[in-house]
Amino acid sequence: MPAQNSLLHCFLYRSHLASNTDIACVGDIVRTARAFNKTQGITGILVFDGQQFCQYVEGPQPALSALIDQIGRDPRHTRFTPLHSSECPSPRRFASWAMAYVLTDDEDDADPLASLSRLEGTCIIEKLQALIPKLDMA
Ligand SMILES: Cc1cc2nc3c(=O)[nH]c(=O)nc-3n(C[C@H](O)[C@H](O)[C@H](O)COP(=O)(O)O)c2cc1C
Repeated sequence: MPAQNSLLHCFLYRSHLASNTDIACVGDIVRTARAFNKTQGITGILVFDGQQFCQYVEGPQPALSALIDQIGRDPRHTRFTPLHSSECPSPRRFASWAMAYVLTDDEDDADPLASLSRLEGTCIIEKLQALIPKLDMA
């Protein structure tokens, strides 16, 4: 686990499940993320709607940058689009989750990730925090 006092950063992006990729890979991604992120002091949330991902990660540099590079190169998704990058406020937003996972099926909002894309980065993060009651605790 990295030193707790190293500078924390956060990063938000959206992407699409690659067309040749089985949806079942998402379970593998979440399992990998939870195991690896714990070792790096990285926390966050992954939202998936069956087609699109939106992920927020927070943690110490350079571990966070290395992970973002790795995720960005992952062939299981495409159209990797950064939405927000900054220092992370203290306390962390998702301190209890190595990687919270939300599969959106909200009948009140047919396409929640599309609506997220119309917002600025910090507004999206606030929306993600509002999903906390739905979180599947790791
Ligand atoms: C949408 C998406 C989100 C991911 N999030 C994480 C994550 O938070 N942590 C993680 O360790 N891997 C995550 N991965 C998996 C990484 O891209 C990569 O497969 C993993 O770090 C293992 O890399 P390796 O197979 O080269 O060792 C994610 C992949 C995708 C497609």
